[in-house]
Amino acid sequence: MSDARKDRPTSRRSFLAAAAGAGALATTGRAQAQGQKPDPLITEPQDWNRFLGPGVDAAPYGKPSRFEAGVVRRHVGWLTADTISSINFTPLHQLDGIVTPNGLCFERHHAGVPEIEPGKHRLMVHGLVEKPLVFTMDDLKRFPGRVNKLYFLECAANGGMEWRGAQLNGCQFTHGMIHNVWYTGVPLKTLLDEAGMRTNGKWLLAEGADASLMTRSIPIEKAMKDCLVVWAMNGEALRPEQGYPLRLVVPGWEGNMWIKWLRRLEIGDQPWQQREETSKYTDLLADGRSRRFTFVMDAKSVVTNPSPQAPLRQKGPNVLTGLAWSGRGAITRVDVSIDGGRNWRNARIDGPVLPMSLTRFYVDFDWQGEDMLIQSRAMDETGYVQPTKDELRKVRGVNSIYHNNGIQTWHVKPNGETENVEIL
Ligand code: MTE
Ligand code: CO
Repeated sequence: MSDARKDRPTSRRSFLAAAAGAGALATTGRAQAQGQKPDPLITEPQDWNRFLGPGVDAAPYGKPSRFEAGVVRRHVGWLTADTISSINFTPLHQLDGIVTPNGLCFERHHAGVPEIEPGKHRLMVHGLVEKPLVFTMDDLKRFPGRVNKLYFLECAANGGMEWRGAQLNGCQFTHGMIHNVWYTGVPLKTLLDEAGMRTNGKWLLAEGADASLMTRSIPIEKAMKDCLVVWAMNGEALRPEQGYPLRLVVPGWEGNMWIKWLRRLEIGDQPWQQREETSKYTDLLADGRSRRFTFVMDAKSVVTNPSPQAPLRQKGPNVLTGLAWSGRGAITRVDVSIDGGRNWRNARIDGPVLPMSLTRFYVDFDWQGEDMLIQSRAMDETGYVQPTKDELRKVRGVNSIYHNNGIQTWHVKPNGETENVEIL
């Protein structure tokens, strides 16, 4: 303990020494060369090295610095009739890397967040099975074959407000119905194998325990392939907003199918035609027909910085960054344009590139106040290329809400202010 304290730059002398050892030296040198006054933030002691801070008992569960209080989920008041059935969006422009912190994961509920006592929660497996089963949370945590997987969850309605043109000013609102989380749980297949599926079992119905009784039909091939029943996110118990104590994970498929507060799995021989797969989560085409059971989330990307909530503040070197993802597998390439899609350059992908997970990209660039129309375009391992919004409308018309994966344009003005626009 005492050794560690010795190294802390608590005195003025050691603080200066630490600064001189780091890149701060260059700044000090330049300031003096220009005959400027020395920066008191470097030459004078500050409160934080004059006084002791709070002890280890101050925060049994840690929170971000109070200077980060503006990094929060946000909702759009006029979008829904009330906050019980609404959306709180992920602040994508304030995050980096690929993992979404638990407290900032977007939340979407149809009947608010239930408070479920884990000891009273049950998961029932029944229908076309040899042996109907009921699991407690303890049963599930004793089940063999536990796995950890990083997956994005995107609501099919992400970007739905933008189908007919640019509307919401910020990637938090245009693209923030997405999060990327490490899940811990068991493969759904192991539970279904335990129950012994009958050969005529072709579909699975998943049901939540909240007051919306959210239900979705899932083809059995998907259920057996890679779906998970999970109780932990990013290493700790699921947050109430994300389905505590148990949720279904349906990698790469529309977020609506990821049933939270999961309490029932029924095996059947056909889909159930529930509200969420008939009246909702379908897209009306121009010819009057509807696209239905559109499960997969196609490849998509967005530049998170700069963006309307994160304008450019300084000329010179700047870092452009964003996220790309695909429900069909891994991202293989991201291109970025600063002239509205006339010329493209390859973005640098950094960090793990995992199938059905967010992927982080960067372009380091020099900005001298030029007007820019910034776009990004994702490509996945199936060769699928993210379409423009116009290409999408040519095929789907303008009645859709769901599955808007068109290329986003941000207009960066000479003063750095950035706006959501569309190029006609
Ligand atoms: N599951 C239940 N039981 N109730 C719900 O309202 N909303 C669905 C899905 N699962 C919902 C649910 C929708 S539309 C989405 S997009 C995702 O959960 C949102 O997951 P999140 O709140 O973790 O972001
Ligand atoms: Co949704």
